[in-house]
Amino acid sequence: MSSHPQATPLGSPRPLGVGILGAGPVTQAIHLPSLARLRNILEVRHIMDVDSAVAESVAARVGANYSTSMDALLGDPDVDIVAICSPHQFHADQVIAACRAGKKAVLCEKPFAMSGEEAARISAVSEETSVPIIVGAMHTFDPGWLAAEANWGDLSENVHTIRSSIVLPPNARFEDFATEIITRPAGGTPDYSDVEVIKNALRGGIMGLAIHDLPLVRRFTPDFEDLEVLQARHVRPFGYVISLRSGNRIIELRAAMNKTWKPEWVFEAISDDAALRVDFTPSYVQAGSAVATITRGTTSTTYGPYEHNGYEGEWRELAQLALRTKQPPSAESLINDLTFAIAIADATVDVAAAEHANSHAGARS
Ligand SMILES: NC(=O)c1ccc[n+]([C@@H]2O[C@H](COP(=O)([O-])OP(=O)(O)OC[C@H]3O[C@@H](n4cnc5c(N)ncnc54)[C@H](O)[C@@H]3O)[C@@H](O)[C@H]2O)c1
Repeated sequence: MSSHPQATPLGSPRPLGVGILGAGPVTQAIHLPSLARLRNILEVRHIMDVDSAVAESVAARVGANYSTSMDALLGDPDVDIVAICSPHQFHADQVIAACRAGKKAVLCEKPFAMSGEEAARISAVSEETSVPIIVGAMHTFDPGWLAAEANWGDLSENVHTIRSSIVLPPNARFEDFATEIITRPAGGTPDYSDVEVIKNALRGGIMGLAIHDLPLVRRFTPDFEDLEVLQARHVRPFGYVISLRSGNRIIELRAAMNKTWKPEWVFEAISDDAALRVDFTPSYVQAGSAVATITRGTTSTTYGPYEHNGYEGEWRELAQLALRTKQPPSAESLINDLTFAIAIADATVDVAAAEHANSHAGARS
């Protein structure tokens, strides 16, 4: 397994070592380009993938060691920070193993986990080991969003409408802009008359795409016990239209993936006398931060664009956490974000399944 030089410029501290579990499109097109801009503080030292050809080839791009075993990466003393970029079903166990290995900080790609049971296991290990964990919900690290959060005042208490609207071309187009992808699964044509297909598509849409913005939504609905789905529709080939109510707050989640030439990713929060609009750059795109506008009466203030985006923000934060120069986010808050997403996914799937059954019963009668 190839080794790489560890030299650093004379007098400067050695960069923190990064190890990545899973070297698919997200590692190739998102994290490696972000890390390439942060070479003075972070250095990729170990790439692990269950596919050895992928591990070897991606590691060679950055001069890192490679392996096909999680234990080899976690046992590598040159790795200080672990990023978990494997498929979602492995996240919980890998986060737990990285914490138990005593690493300095852990980044887990979204979704953090897929069930309340997994969330509880992560929570217990996080408390036991005190290893800082962040979840790759990149919008929460975007300087445009952070500037809005510092300036929205009482909007979070008085908000009545919260919207996340996403119009994107398929991920593959962005992946191809960013790098030459060497892994991509083949697709198929789904059978939309099968309720399980609809349920899986909606759950996938929420846990895979809406989940980027659900932590933002939760900033405006910290208490979500009374969450109710008013409407839930799958949009073909990939998208959703979901309306929810939590107390007196209406939450609208919309997404459509198509061949659009003009991607749009907007988050809005509106009260009687103030409105926030955040225009994010699409996933995979490394083109600076979101632009946020807060309007009160006739006065609008715009924040951004700033130089870096949320992906780079995640890595900057990880470096600070590993050096203990910043307080980690509470594991409880990450778990509440996950519980919120799972609650929305469960309730949405139930409503969509009931509508599907009704429409089929109607068609038969
Ligand atoms: N933040 C974002 O913008 C964003 C965008 C898309 C996807 N994601 C998330 O990033 C993660 C990776 O996405 P992707 O599109 O690269 O996924 P992918 O499934 O295409 O690739 C993942 C890689 O992990 C490898 N792998 C499989 N099992 C593994 C295991 N047990 N341990 C280590 N590696 C394993 C695969 O061989 C593959 O190379 C997913 O959790 C996804 O939800 C994040």
